[in-house]
Amino acid sequence: MTLVRFEPSGYEVQVPVGTRIVDVTDDHPKAAVPYSCRSANCGTCRVEVTEGISGLSEADDEELGVLDVFGDEPTSVRLCCQIKLVNDVPKLTLRVVEP
Ligand code: FES
Repeated sequence: MTLVRFEPSGYEVQVPVGTRIVDVTDDHPKAAVPYSCRSANCGTCRVEVTEGISGLSEADDEELGVLDVFGDEPTSVRLCCQIKLVNDVPKLTLRVVEP
């Protein structure tokens, strides 16, 4: 299990490997991650990964394209609608990027 912390809400929840983070935030609205398209088009759900990025799935070409538009590097910022926990890491911390 991995402890996922969302900032700035401070909400924390334990999730197993294989979990899509969008499912976590749908089940736990207090995580307070904003979405719009949910399909790697708009960038509304950008989160800075401040801890545990090695636990996440690789970004695909669509996600990389959106991050590039915003000038973000996939080594530090990801689209919350696209990421999945694929490796068991102790903690994953996601900070919502202000628009
Ligand atoms: S909600 Fe639009 S890119 Fe994630």
